[in-house]
Amino acid sequence: MHVLSVASEAYPLVKTGGLADVVGALSAALAPHGIETTTLLPGYPSVVKSLGRAKAIRRWDDLLGTPARLLGGRIDGHPLLVLDAPDLFARDGGPYADATGRDWDDNWRRFAALGRAAADLAGQFDLVHAHDWQGAMAPAYLRYDGAQVPSVLTIHNIAFQGRYDAAVFAGLGLPETAYALDGVEYYGGVGLLKAGLASADAITTVSPSYAEEIRHGEFGMGLEGLIEARRDRVSGIVNGIDPAVWSPETDAALPARYTARTLSRRRTNKRAVEQAFGLDGDDGPIFVVVSRLTWQKGMDVLAGQLDAMVAMGGRLALLGSGDAALEQAFRAASNRHPGRIGVRIGYDEALSHLLQGGGDAILIPSRFEPCGLTQLYGLAYGCVPVVARTGGLADTVIDANEAAVAAGVATGIQFAAVTPDGLSQALRRTMALYAQPDPWSTMQKQGMRADFSWTRSGARYAELYRSLVAA
Ligand code: ADP
Ligand code: GLC
Repeated sequence: MHVLSVASEAYPLVKTGGLADVVGALSAALAPHGIETTTLLPGYPSVVKSLGRAKAIRRWDDLLGTPARLLGGRIDGHPLLVLDAPDLFARDGGPYADATGRDWDDNWRRFAALGRAAADLAGQFDLVHAHDWQGAMAPAYLRYDGAQVPSVLTIHNIAFQGRYDAAVFAGLGLPETAYALDGVEYYGGVGLLKAGLASADAITTVSPSYAEEIRHGEFGMGLEGLIEARRDRVSGIVNGIDPAVWSPETDAALPARYTARTLSRRRTNKRAVEQAFGLDGDDGPIFVVVSRLTWQKGMDVLAGQLDAMVAMGGRLALLGSGDAALEQAFRAASNRHPGRIGVRIGYDEALSHLLQGGGDAILIPSRFEPCGLTQLYGLAYGCVPVVARTGGLADTVIDANEAAVAAGVATGIQFAAVTPDGLSQALRRTMALYAQPDPWSTMQKQGMRADFSWTRSGARYAELYRSLVAA
């Protein structure tokens, strides 16, 4: 079976978050099931450059108003297609925003063009798998083209919806009838994610709990009615992790590599974390954070608990970037507590590996979390996840309650309310567990043994694809 996977990012070519890790890993995850996945990406300058001298496979004189060509290449050995449309993608800045962080005004056109191109190519594939709002127009175009190729749309985060003014509809190149309640119309405007959700043959999201949560107001963020109406088509498939990138045994970013049997070697990495973040050396735990600094991630609540954490004897090494006010709050905390709180504002792939390989516990106090990958990396690296009980975090971490600790099955700490009290209690519980070396190392090993490879989830996607292709 040949699948076209349509997304706005894929590791290692372009990444702003977990979406890239998942899209980048899918091809390898599906190959054992006899599925060849071709990834279609926008031609951002770095992506086009990575292709070297590639020949155009196809050209459009007018792809939603702009000339474009299709270039071929490989990503980690798997087939890659790149939509080279300079008017849309040849810009400095990030995939979605300019260098100052302002979203590009024409994002609707940039990603609708990606979907239009995918639909034009779909005839060469057995199925199209689109990701998030940036890929979501692919299923919509397929539907209004009357194409026979089935489509899957995966929601990685329903908070990002691609919502625009009704005026953009004219630029989408769709029949008038598409501007309708069961089409692209969304609260009086245009919704790209909405259009895809209304059109795809199957909808998945990245954990069973999140699939359930988005049927309801607080988590559905305006799309709950549509999700509920299409519930027979919605399923949750938890993300896996790519062992070629995330294994402490082979990780080149770690000063000391280790397995569950050689956990004491983590000490070398912990010293490296202390050095990199200017932390005092002592016997207490180092909490780490690798995150976008946003409201979703509960970073405001964490910032409010840092004085308390230091008073408990904890230290923090934080790597992240995002909201300016949060960046400032963490910098200020680090100035208040030199040697106890170290902060690195920015994006640094190698440092994120070091934190997993040397930190004691990774903090993820998210208000909502479709899947979350950093807790999975934490589990694989013996960096115990301390997580809010929501979405994929609830599905992947086994809380260290008394029964679970006694049975030796706990893998982390969960807490229910993302509030100052909820978080500070979780920090206190973590400190208390850390003070008991045996249960703590049992918890680390239990996490490292847990299977979050793509084996199971790859099989689930393969099964879903087959059911659609056969239908
Ligand atoms: P989300 O996609 O919502 O941001 P995930 O946990 O699914 O959350 O994925 C985040 C990904 O981005 C992980 O691979 C994580 O290691 C990485 N990441 C986040 N912030 C940084 C950063 N500042 N530097 C390096 N990697 C980061
Ligand atoms: C989104 C979600 C995150 C998920 C990732 C990959 O960015 O916020 O929870 O892990 O997509 O699916």
